[in-house]
Amino acid sequence: MEKTLVLIKPDAYTKGHSGDIIKIYEKEGFRIVAMKLMKMTKNLAQKHYVEHIGRPYYEELEEFMTSAPLVAMVLEGEDVIARVRKLNGKTNPAEAEEGTIRKLYAESAGRNAVHASDSPESAAREIHIFFNETEIYD
Ligand code: PPS
Repeated sequence: MEKTLVLIKPDAYTKGHSGDIIKIYEKEGFRIVAMKLMKMTKNLAQKHYVEHIGRPYYEELEEFMTSAPLVAMVLEGEDVIARVRKLNGKTNPAEAEEGTIRKLYAESAGRNAVHASDSPESAAREIHIFFNETEIYD
């Protein structure tokens, strides 16, 4: 069964949308196999967003992601990587489809409520940045 890493970002956590967002994933039939509340450090941000370091938005992204707690989780299910990306909607909420998490809860391309892995390779890499084997129940 496929797994993906999801982050409920500081904007959505701070505004109290975590429960509503988790409910959307559970209603879709995905199983939570790991979950924690944590504050991202700069070091962790640089690991997680390594391919974005140096891009014009990177400093803003790091500042935002380390500004308040986030909820990290691993979801499991059939085709979960692509299906979670679809539920999340486009990066920029102005372009996100109606009913998607970003259309409902995001403010901008930076403060956009959720992150999810974009491929099996990213999922394998990202899951192990946030969780060790004993924290994943499968
Ligand atoms: S790419 O090139 O397709 O991978 O880029 P994209 O998916 O659009 O964005 C990658 C992550 O960068 C964040 N982002 C921003 N942060 C702050 N400011 C601006 N302007 C900005 N634009 C993009 C975006 O939220 C993505 O974060 P994740 O966590 O991957 O969704």
